This record gives sequence, C-alpha cells and structure tokens, in this order.
Amino acid sequence: MSPAFPLAPERASSVAGEVDAVFLFILGVTGLVAVGIWIALFYFAIRYRRRSADDRPPVIHGSLLLELSWTIIPFLLMSAMFVWGAKVFFHLNRAPDDAMPVSVVGKRWMWKLQHPTGQREINELHVPVGRAVKLVITSEDTLHSFFVPAFRIKKDAVPGRYNMAWFRATKTGTYHLFCAEYCGTEHSKMVGRVVVMEPEQYQVWLAGGPTPESPVLQGERLFTDLNCVTCHRPDSAGRGPVLNGIFSRPVALAGGERVVADQAYLRESIMSPAAKVVAGYQPVMPTYQGQVSEEQLIALIAYIESLSAPSEPAPAGRASSLPAKGARSR
Ligand code: CUA
Repeated sequence: MSPAFPLAPERASSVAGEVDAVFLFILGVTGLVAVGIWIALFYFAIRYRRRSADDRPPVIHGSLLLELSWTIIPFLLMSAMFVWGAKVFFHLNRAPDDAMPVSVVGKRWMWKLQHPTGQREINELHVPVGRAVKLVITSEDTLHSFFVPAFRIKKDAVPGRYNMAWFRATKTGTYHLFCAEYCGTEHSKMVGRVVVMEPEQYQVWLAGGPTPESPVLQGERLFTDLNCVTCHRPDSAGRGPVLNGIFSRPVALAGGERVVADQAYLRESIMSPAAKVVAGYQPVMPTYQGQVSEEQLIALIAYIESLSAPSEPAPAGRASSLPAKGARSR
C-alpha cells in the first residue's frame, strides 16, 4: 500500500536503492548540521548576551581541540559524501556490457525512441523487466532532460552530443517519464511513460505491428542513398577512409593527433567533415548538415558500427552501443 502523500517515487530500478541511500545520507548530515547550527545560535545568543553596559567577556586565544574537531569532522563527512557519491556516479555512468541499446531523441515537445530491432515509439518506452537498457540520448533542437523518477535516472539531451543513461527495471508496471529541462512553452507537456513488461510479454509486444527496419539496415540504405558508398569503400580504393572496423578504434588525423572513432567523432565527421580530417586524405567530403535527421545520423552510425574490419571479424558478443543488428533481446 502506498501512502496518500508519498515523499519519494517508488523504487523500480536496480540503482534506485543506492541513489536513495546517498541522497538520504547527504540530507541527514546537512539536516543535522543545520539543526545543530540553529540550536547553537539560539543557545549562544541567550547564554552570552550582554548583561550590562560595562560587560566585558574574557579574551580567548583559540582552542586547538576545538579547531581540530571542527576541521576534521566536516572533512570526514564531506569525504564520505564525495567517495560514496562518486562510486554511485560511476556505477550510473557505466552501462553493463549486455545492455540493450535504445536511442532517444528529444524534440520540442516529444521523446522519440527506437529499439535495437527498429520499433519506434513516441513518448512511450516498452522494456522487459530485469534486462539492462542503455539509452543513447540526444536532441534535435534544444536542451531536454530524460527523467524517470522511479528509476532514479536523469540525463540531459544535448544537441550534437550522445549522452548515456542506463537502468535495469526491477518491477513490472508503468512509470512516469518527464522532460526535466525547461525547453519552451510546452515543456510541461513533454511527458510520457515507461512500460516495464515480463520478457515474454515484451517479445509479444515487439512482434506486434509491422516488422520494422532495424537502425543498421536503415543506415545501410542511407549509406547508399546519400552516396557515402562511392567514397567510403571497404577496399581502400575510395577517396575517403575505409570505415570497416573503424568504430571505437583510434584514428590518426592529418594534424598528427589521434582520436577515437566513437559516436561523437562519427557524428562530427558527417556534419562537419573538415573538422578532423583523417591523415592521408583530402578534405573533400561535403557536409551533411541539414540533410540528415538525428534519427538518420543514429542509423548511419549504427551501420558504421556494424561494419567489421575485412580481415578481422568483430569480437563476438561485443555489445553495441547504438541499436545494432543482432542485438535483439532474448
Ligand atoms: Cu523538453 Cu522540457
């Protein structure tokens, strides 16, 4: 039975307990300190009030014990908050390898989501209970923030960036999804729900409706339609770098630096090709700014990610970070 006036949303993800514990610890410490300061303030104001016009208090030249204790005790409390908070922060920012990737695009004023198998949803996300789900979050216009209170996750959707949040739902049910960043007049209507289902029900849900095209297949089609394929060939005979096997590997740039070909780099290279040119190639690629949507970019990157190197196949079982082929949940 839930109380009539709940002080916190229910806990429905594997990290909810940890997040609440840190929060309550910090709230407890700061609350006790605040109460202690108020009590001391009133006590001292009354106890040491000026009693007569010529009242002169004794002069005190410090107290080592007092000064050490008001330095060391707060230091230990703050350090505990930092170490514990950092531990939870890292846990929240590192998705399990087997997490199911779901792409999230924020847009005034809706959430657009896509499953690794291609199903699209608006303002609704269906997920299986007990399975880690990794959200790759971006925005196509302004700042939004993907917030599911019951899962204790909140992550900004930033245009031009891919942010990650993950959760493992622990209970079936329907949970609120909010936008937690003021994004314009209809910000307050930018809400939705996350439906956590039994795995079998989720499979039934996936199978319902028309069979969608997976992001990898969609990306492959775009790669041809946008003529990427004429310059980026698998056999190094093209005018552009070979993309097979490039994903999450270091790339040497014309300036001598090295960058890792992650989602952010691939996105930048499609939108601003001249920004970081690969060593040995001419900056001849045109920009695709304004020609591809955020969903199409995600599909293109998912396709590039799926391209294994010609000689060495991608290691088996490597979890894709964007919705990819073969990531269908079982
Ligand atoms: Cu989107 Cu507020």
